Amino acid sequence: MDLFDAIRGRRSCRSFLPDPVKEADLEKILEAGTWAPSPLNAQSWEFIVITNQGLREKIFSEADRCRQWAIEKSGWKWLSRYQVDFLKAVPVLIAVIGDPTKSGVDTFQEEGGVAYQHACAAAVQNMQLAAYALGYSTLWFTLFDKNAMRTVLGVPQNKVPLVLLCLGKPSGEIPQTARKDFKEKTTFLR
Ligand SMILES: Cc1cc2nc3c(=O)[nH]c(=O)nc-3n(C[C@H](O)[C@H](O)[C@H](O)COP(=O)(O)O)c2cc1C
Repeated sequence: MDLFDAIRGRRSCRSFLPDPVKEADLEKILEAGTWAPSPLNAQSWEFIVITNQGLREKIFSEADRCRQWAIEKSGWKWLSRYQVDFLKAVPVLIAVIGDPTKSGVDTFQEEGGVAYQHACAAAVQNMQLAAYALGYSTLWFTLFDKNAMRTVLGVPQNKVPLVLLCLGKPSGEIPQTARKDFKEKTTFLR
């Protein structure tokens, strides 16, 4: 698939078929993640692949608890209509775990130590595009408490669960999203 078609065609999916992800495809997707840039090539990520039904139920419970908390905290009405049941149905979840010690020179900046998150984000985007090119859909999911997710996944205190990447075949049409023209978002200093 042409890279620009993948960039334009990928959309966030929140409804998945139970069809499994082929092992060879999963490996390609994970490898695509590892080709992301990172500070000093520190490769600030680790991936946990979750297919276990019991674990997916626990992840759902934590996300739903976090959703309830966010409804109260934000007062956002739409959050009551947003359901996270797809976490129980999605065939694969890839947890992206960041290592704050792998932030390169950013560690010494005033607001520093966050570059590991940027690297993990780049890995997530690579995996999303690779998955799409292989005929799958994804969702970059973050509605969870990091400490609670540490406990669910058995992640040590010195590492941070940043993203749960949902991966599978979409069930039905995925709603399209729009973007502002890049010119509205760009300043040229020529
Ligand atoms: C940092 C980040 C966090 C996100 N967290 C969530 C999330 O918790 N739940 C969700 O449904 N979508 C989440 N998304 C997906 C966005 O809602 C989605 O990318 C955006 O609405 C644009 O839609 P599109 O990806 O289909 O173009 C997240 C995306 C990013 C980049």
